Amino acid sequence: GGQRLWGGRFGSGPSDAMAALSLSVHFDWRLAPYDLAQSRAHARVLNRAGLLTDDELAEMLGALDSLEADVASGEFLPQPADEDVHTALERGLTERLGVLGGKLRAGRSRNDQVATDLRLFLRDHARFVALAVADLQRALLAQAQRHVDTAAPGFTHLQHAQPVSFGHELAKHVHALARDVDRVMDWDHRAALSPMGAGALAGSSLPLDPQAVAAELGFRGAVANSIDAVSDRDFVAELCFVLAMVGVHLSRLGEEICLWTSREFGWAQLDDAWSTGSSIMPQKKNPDVAELARGKAGRLIGDLMAVLTVLKGLPFAYNRDLQEDKESVFDAIDTLLLVLPAMTGCVATLRFDADRMAASAPQGFALATDIAEWLVRQGVPFREAHEVAGGCVRRAEARGVELWDLSDDEMRDISDHLTPAVRGVLSVRGALDSRSAYGGTAPARVREQLADVTRVVEVA
Ligand code: ARG
Repeated sequence: GGQRLWGGRFGSGPSDAMAALSLSVHFDWRLAPYDLAQSRAHARVLNRAGLLTDDELAEMLGALDSLEADVASGEFLPQPADEDVHTALERGLTERLGVLGGKLRAGRSRNDQVATDLRLFLRDHARFVALAVADLQRALLAQAQRHVDTAAPGFTHLQHAQPVSFGHELAKHVHALARDVDRVMDWDHRAALSPMGAGALAGSSLPLDPQAVAAELGFRGAVANSIDAVSDRDFVAELCFVLAMVGVHLSRLGEEICLWTSREFGWAQLDDAWSTGSSIMPQKKNPDVAELARGKAGRLIGDLMAVLTVLKGLPFAYNRDLQEDKESVFDAIDTLLLVLPAMTGCVATLRFDADRMAASAPQGFALATDIAEWLVRQGVPFREAHEVAGGCVRRAEARGVELWDLSDDEMRDISDHLTPAVRGVLSVRGALDSRSAYGGTAPARVREQLADVTRVVEVA
């Protein structure tokens, strides 16, 4: 059965309700491989400190290997009486080694152990999330490449604003996600310090070597202050923010997919494998992936709020409140590892109706800015040009026609500056091609942009 790690000064065991409240092994068991890795590093440091003989070290490492294999195969499982992952694994070790197993705890505490395990776990899993983000970026880029020359309405306030290349429209999501990947890498730099050696809070009187343990575990160094080492959960909160930001980006993409696939837009069709039907309405094909992505953002934001709220006002050094950090950040990781592959599949298989987008691109007087900017090139102050172009919109709207349907006479009537030459800019292609400065929607620029961002995605 489980052996508590702290029985000595107690006359009785914990009451059932106390033990139930205290229990974390049902969610921290997934830290086991990381706890075993740090146990190996700790065994070596104890050996170098003269606290484990070479034979004892060899026996210890052999037992850790066998325990690791049994954990991986599911042969060794935590029992309900194991308070947490550290307790369960110490039981596994003593089952294999007898009294020798009890030597490993020297100089370490669950306080520095759990902080180290969590950093190791999150550094690995943040990378898995970043890789899943890169898959989604590749799917978006492939679609963007296909639609560089597809004109589409561009919106502000969800109203037709100016025509854009649909490749440009899709690529904006790749850039947003690239910042998220960048944030993960940046976060990793700060997370890459090892709390080991801090012990409970003050460091150890034993001759341990925190920097060597840190290096062995792939950290760039040890945390400089042992109290900070066991207190700090910035790395949890910060990662939760990064993950929530990914979730928010997915929710914004999801909302656009919901709009694009609506009958009113009719810009895109969902693949059967990435949509669902209705239990009553036989015709339905619903964008559930996009909707769940939108919905899960709420959960990811909640995970961040939960961690920040646990930390607020918490005295430094270890407090049991800190046990509440893990479920939130695990949930955030698990949520994204579910949502990202589904979004990737959904995006990769969307079929866009380029003709329909192009037909709609100039509608809603989306070329009015082009009239105003043409006038500016003729020397008309923009303030006046804006009024004149607005006059064209008013006239066209009153007649129920588009801007290019206005006659030469009607135009001249609105302003002497409006010569028939203005018709040269009243085309979608012209509107796209003319926005050719860096970052603009001109297809030639978009092609360069896609090449550049593809390099960023592939390097990361
Ligand atoms: N299970 C705890 C956690 O997840 C670590 C144990 C520290 N417990 C303690 N009584 N010092 O944070």
